[in-house]
Parts: sequence; C-alpha cells; structure tokens
Amino acid sequence: MNFALTETQLMIRDMARKFAEERLAHDAIERDEKEEFPHAAVKEMAELGFMGMMVPEAWSGAGLDTISYVLAMIEISRVDASAGVIMSVNNSLVCWGINEYGSDEQKTRYLRDLASGKKLGAFALSEPEAGSDASNQRTVAVKDGDSYVLNGTKNWITNGSTADVVLVMAATDKSKGAKGISAFIVERDTAGFNVAKKERKLGIRSSDTVSISFTDCRVPAANRIGEEGLGFKFAMRTLDGGRIGIAAQAVGIAQAALDASISYAKERKAFDHPIADFQAIQFKIAEMSTNLEAARLLTLDAAFTKDEGQPYGQAAAMAKLYASKVAVENALEAIQIHGGYGYVREYLVERYLRDAKITEIYEGTSEIQRIVIARSLLK
Ligand code: CAA
Repeated sequence: MNFALTETQLMIRDMARKFAEERLAHDAIERDEKEEFPHAAVKEMAELGFMGMMVPEAWSGAGLDTISYVLAMIEISRVDASAGVIMSVNNSLVCWGINEYGSDEQKTRYLRDLASGKKLGAFALSEPEAGSDASNQRTVAVKDGDSYVLNGTKNWITNGSTADVVLVMAATDKSKGAKGISAFIVERDTAGFNVAKKERKLGIRSSDTVSISFTDCRVPAANRIGEEGLGFKFAMRTLDGGRIGIAAQAVGIAQAALDASISYAKERKAFDHPIADFQAIQFKIAEMSTNLEAARLLTLDAAFTKDEGQPYGQAAAMAKLYASKVAVENALEAIQIHGGYGYVREYLVERYLRDAKITEIYEGTSEIQRIVIARSLLK
C-alpha cells in the first residue's frame, strides 16, 4: 500500500471537509433532534459528485477510486454521520451494485440518475426474519410472463422512504435457499410498493429508516440484476464494498470524538489547570488517537485492496469490525472527558455515541464480521 495520497485524493478530502464544515455542521444537531432528512445537503453533495463517486464518468459518476470515497465518507461522517450513511448506501450498495452487475439498459435507465444524484437509491435485503441470516428470504418474486410479482416485507431500509429506486432481494425459488434468491431494481412508484413504518432510532436520526412492504408489486423481468438465482451473491459482494463505507463512517465519528475531546481538554479548567495537563486525560487522548489511526489504516487498506482488484471481503470485514469498535470507544471516552457536559443534548458528544453504535450493527453486525474473517482464514 502506498501511504502517500495523490493530489486528486487530497483534493477530494479537502472538498468534503470544507463542505461538511460549511454546509452540514450548523444544523446537524437540529436535524438529529427533529429527525429531519437533509434534502438540501444531499442535493449539494450530488452537485459535488459525492453520490456516485466510484461510478465511471461515462455513466454520470465521478470516476474516482475507493480511497477517494473513503476520504470523503470520513469527512462527511465526522460532522454528520446521518449524511454519511445516506451517501454510503447510494454509493457502495446501489450505484456500485448496478455498475458492476447491471445491464447497459439498466445503467442507462437507472445508474446515470443515481450516480449524478438526480435520484436516490436504497438496498433492501433485511427482513423481519432475515437480518444476520440474510439468505432466509421470505419476500418472494414469482415469474409471470415478462415480469415478476413481488410479495413480502423488508426491514431497516436506509433511505427507504426517500429513495426513488430500491434494489430488492427476493426468493425466486425457495427450495434452492441462497441459490434461489434474485435481485431486482424496483421503482418506488410501482403499484404495490408501500412504505410501511418509519423507525424512531437511537442515532443517525436524520437518515431515514423504514420498512417497505410489497403487495403484488409487478416488476419487469428486465429489472432483474444478473441471472435468476444470483441475488444472494450479488448482495454479499455488494456488502463487501458497503462495509468499507461503514468503516469510513465509523472512522469519521471516532475522529469527531477525538477532536472534541482535545479542544475541550485544552479549554476546561479543574484544580487551576486545563484538564489537558492531567495524565488521566492525556492517556485517554493518546489511546483514542492511536486506535483511530489503526482504524483509519485498516479502512484505507481495504479500499486500496479493492482498488487493486484483489479480493477484499476479509479486509473490509476487519476494517468495519475494528473501526466500529473504536467509534463506540472513542465516543464513550469523549463523554467521560466532557463529564456532565458530555451527557447533555446541547453538546455534540452524546450524539457521537448514539451514531457510533449503529456501525456495529448495520451492513453485518460485528459478530457477522468475525464470521466472515474467520471463514476466510480457515477455508
Ligand atoms: N462474496 C461472494 N459470494 C459469497 C459471499 C461473498 N462475500 N459470501 C457468501 N457468498 C456465497 C457463498 O460462497 C455461497 O455460495 P456457494 O454455495 O456457491 O459457495 C453462498 O453465497 C451462500 O453463502 P454461505 O453458505 O456462506 O451463506 P450463509 O447463509 O452461511 O450466510 C453470512 C453467510 C456471512 C452470515 C451472510 O448471511 C451475511 O453476511 N449476513 C449479514 C447480512 C448483512 O450484512 N446484512 C446487512 C443488511 S444491508 C444494510 O444494513 C444496509 C443499510 O441499510 C445500511
């Protein structure tokens, strides 16, 4: 791995940092409080090319590498982790999936608008009984002439009520288990597509998480991604990349917790000294910073491995497993350093903890990441 970032990568990082500080920071707390989706910010992120970063320019994307995407994700999530996950799902699950496995017709119809940010996408794999056990799909897609008819319910869908287009995994042959699942591109205004329930969450509250139900929802067969039965592998491969995005989100939150702790420790006085003078605080800051750098390097390494065209599932799982742990730990330490001020809503740091926790759960829990890593090592 080359540790020096290219000029383009540095430019993207600085652009994302400037945007996050100037356009996201001022109302991130208020949006979190009101559970308000950042429509205007997402539009501006699209104008900067942040919604389809890894999609080739020929398909209206920014044509950048995974490292640039990670750097931008870190900066956006450092200020607003809700904006981070909205961006991550559109980039690494939806756009990447269609770009890698979709037909030219699907790319023309959907990818251009998704990558340029004219439209927003969501990824629907999880169900009430298919979370970690993702191949246990109860949503069915029955072939009928030149279309499929979908019935079932999807849970925990990020961007679900805002998305124009949803990638839906459904069983086309239940007897075949994981090999009987197919992936479909479903437009939100299709008859039988219903947004069922908006979740009220602990963190990332200005991102939109819903259940979606399908009742006799008819989707053209031309909207199936790849061959029938390839949907589970499509979802797993797509999630391998998604986990790099979530690792970057976690690095951003962990960085925010460290930054807030350093400035507070220099300002806050106790016993006639800034608390930064005390070893109890210094040791916390040193630990937080060291763990953060390790998480950042694992995440960049996973991105580098993907950009090199090498298998990256294990590296992505390691990055997400470790970075999400560091995000939670750093957020907890930031609260401890801030004392009572860390525990109240007006200060930022309690939000970091609430936002950090989800990175240990979505796109595969930490337990699932350990399974992926162990299987890869022991095969
Ligand atoms: N790449 C390619 N193929 C893969 C793969 C991968 N990463 N992982 C599995 N497969 C293939 C296997 O090789 C196997 O195919 P073969 O039989 O041809 O070899 C097939 O898929 C079935 O694999 P497994 O037998 O390993 O399947 P399993 O049922 O044991 O499940 C699992 C494996 C790792 C536990 C998987 O179910 C998993 O990752 N679960 C977590 C799901 C998840 O991450 N959900 C997140 C939801 S999306 C989300 O959160 C987005 C959001 O809104 C933020």
